[in-house]
Amino acid sequence: MTETHTGVPSSYPPSPEFAAQSNATAALYDEAEADRLAFWAKQAQRLSWATPFTEVLDWSEAPFAKWFVGGKINVAYNCVDRHVEAGNGDRVAIHWEGEPVGDARDITYAELKDEVCRAANTLTELGLTAGDRVAIYMPMVPEAIVAMLACARLGVLHSVVFAGFSASALRARIDDAKAKVVITTDGQFRRGKAVSLKAGVDEAIEGLGEDSPVEHVLVVRRTEIDVPWTEGRDLWWHETVAKADTEHTPKAFDSEHPLFLLYTSGTTGKPKGIIHTTGGYLTQASYTHHYVFDIKPESDVFWCTADIGWVTGHTYIVYGPLSNGVTQVVYEGTPASPDEHRHFQVIEKYGVTIYYTAPTLIRTFMKWGRELAFEHDLSSLRLLGSVGEPINPEAWRWYRLVFGGDRTPVVDTWWQTETGAIMISPLPGVSDAKPGSAMRALPGISAKVVDDDGNELGIGAEHGEQATGYLVLDKPWPAMLRGIWGDPERYQDTYWSRFADKGWYFAGDGARYGSDGETWVLGRIDDVMNISGHRISTAEVESALVGHTGVAEAAVVGATDDQTGQAICAFVILKAHHAETEPDKLVDDLRAEVSKEISPIAKPREIHIVPELPKTRSGKIMRRLLRDVAEGRELGDTSTLVDPSVFEAIRASK
Ligand code: WT7
Repeated sequence: MTETHTGVPSSYPPSPEFAAQSNATAALYDEAEADRLAFWAKQAQRLSWATPFTEVLDWSEAPFAKWFVGGKINVAYNCVDRHVEAGNGDRVAIHWEGEPVGDARDITYAELKDEVCRAANTLTELGLTAGDRVAIYMPMVPEAIVAMLACARLGVLHSVVFAGFSASALRARIDDAKAKVVITTDGQFRRGKAVSLKAGVDEAIEGLGEDSPVEHVLVVRRTEIDVPWTEGRDLWWHETVAKADTEHTPKAFDSEHPLFLLYTSGTTGKPKGIIHTTGGYLTQASYTHHYVFDIKPESDVFWCTADIGWVTGHTYIVYGPLSNGVTQVVYEGTPASPDEHRHFQVIEKYGVTIYYTAPTLIRTFMKWGRELAFEHDLSSLRLLGSVGEPINPEAWRWYRLVFGGDRTPVVDTWWQTETGAIMISPLPGVSDAKPGSAMRALPGISAKVVDDDGNELGIGAEHGEQATGYLVLDKPWPAMLRGIWGDPERYQDTYWSRFADKGWYFAGDGARYGSDGETWVLGRIDDVMNISGHRISTAEVESALVGHTGVAEAAVVGATDDQTGQAICAFVILKAHHAETEPDKLVDDLRAEVSKEISPIAKPREIHIVPELPKTRSGKIMRRLLRDVAEGRELGDTSTLVDPSVFEAIRASK
């Protein structure tokens, strides 16, 4: 290992033991390099196609890609039926662990197949056909995964809305996708308490009034709390799905048939419905899961701690693991319920071998202290993964040492909702890993760090001053988004206009190269914040704030935070008649407003009432300067400000 001046290794090569058994070898890079499209054709063959494809990629209408042209495939068949047909029906697909201790359930692949068929039959009875949209607003219960797979089986697009989102956020997503059915639960457990969820669905639908596209609401009983009920529209899962037939013949869909929509924050207040399609998405989900996590379906117990409300849950709880036929843990609750031992207990209980989580949680564990981990037997772990934001080297080392006994590889995986699956990551068993770097693009993937004009940056020095640039994806990839629901123009503008002449996708992240040509992703350089790995746009929060009657104007920035990566800091100007209101009360009201409009995760850490906002002569708010203020730094260049003195007042408000 190469050591840094502080005596800790700066790079971790794979152990010979791990390398000897790893799925990936260095030859994978060579193979992809030699013929990229042939390489992807081979990866697609890991799946079972009803009709073979005739062309790997059609990029003639860029940036609208077609992958595996002419191929027909059923995603649910690939995630469930084929494992049963191969004789693995008795293998546990899901070790489900409820939030209340002792509330657990094992589901085999054979049982999962029956459940998915039942749900598919029920959805068909409700009148859904291929191309329709269903909103799924559920906690981490097995039925949520069943619901997603049932949609996939029917060619119906699911739009999973994180159950932590508000009724108002749900309403906007139902409306944009024109979802005909909403699948939900009566309530969800949150730190030992049952809280309502169905009531939020009703509120969302009511908000749509006459225009509501929702014909039915299918409700899973989870907490047994009381729910409001609309006869005729609302149906219980246990009275419909549970009684449906377990026979259902899957139909194959075109490789480019849309599989799902997933809404994510962009730089405006309106979330984007990211469209993913069938063959390419499943190919890359399955391929990356197999090689990056070195999956051995016969012996591994995989655990991705994400929620199905985010893309990580889609790709590494549902489609990746299930397409590979592995056994996985799905946990319903939060890491601290009933206490901070929970994740360690779950790892111990199921013998988890591969654990995939987010840096913000690793930093939380660090805060709780390593003694906690040392009380548990974590020796089953053989590989660790990280995703969601740049991982600081200290957290990376702590993770490897405390979780991994200083033996396990750690893979830092860079990707996005839009990329659908992992793009940049070390391959365990092949690549050296440097703490804090996602290393290099996977075989078959092409990424570059470039300057303003699209020139590739030079290789950086380890600790010197390195140039930073834009992270771009310069070649199409199978799991790439195919557009934004209902807004092809926004798709072009958002991702393909920055380097339009080159035909590159701009990811929105800044990055640099390290001394060995590896990539260091530095985070978003647009107006998107990353709060505990959750993506929230400054514009969304601003629009929630100005929705309050007292607020005339608002500016929001993400400031560095030790725990959550970034924290939301808001600066608001009050309308004249509100200037008299008790400031503390107003700040409380505003935080509640954001929580109600978006989600509690979007609540600002700080709200400052200011007399003015710093603006350029053209009226643009200078967020860079607000970030300086929020992070307590000396101000950067203020020469383009109309009135530099506004900062005296802003600082006084802090
Ligand atoms: C943004 C995408 C990918 C699933 C979860 C987030 C940041 C993600 C890393 C990483 C540095 C990362 C980027 C990216 N990000 N993973 N390993 N290193 N940054 O998906 O909500 O679409 O957010 O998360 O800024 O653009 P998302």
